[in-house]
Amino acid sequence: MAKRIIIQYPNPILSKQCREVTTFDRNLEILLEDMKETLDDANGAGLAAPQVSVLKRVCIVDTDDGFFELINPEIIEATGTQTGDEGCLSVKGKYGTVTRAETVKVKAQDRTGAPRIYTVSGFTARAFQHEIDHLNGIVYVSKVQGELHKG
Ligand code: CO
Repeated sequence: MAKRIIIQYPNPILSKQCREVTTFDRNLEILLEDMKETLDDANGAGLAAPQVSVLKRVCIVDTDDGFFELINPEIIEATGTQTGDEGCLSVKGKYGTVTRAETVKVKAQDRTGAPRIYTVSGFTARAFQHEIDHLNGIVYVSKVQGELHKG
């Protein structure tokens, strides 16, 4: 495993649309393992492949609800709303208020390509939505109500 460099906003790579994963091979495993090491080192709740300059539809989420590897994730149902502070490892030291769905049902694949369905709520749902946005070139700062702030 190797830690990778997390690129910082407004690096244009963060605005790009990511490509679907079609090959579930050793390279994907290495990417996932490196992303986990990078996320653990940064003490974050989630990381998307474009943040380590890989334009593939891959993201990971690590919260009290567990550790999730999402390949080609798609939100298939979103209900309720939650409004709260959000941060991003690509926007160091800043936070901003974002309204998200309270609960999302997400269709994804695991590292072997097997289909998975996750239904998550609260902070974990916020993290899923934040990471899936990254795969579509969206950084949360474009969704912030009011100003970004520190701490
Ligand atoms: Co982020």
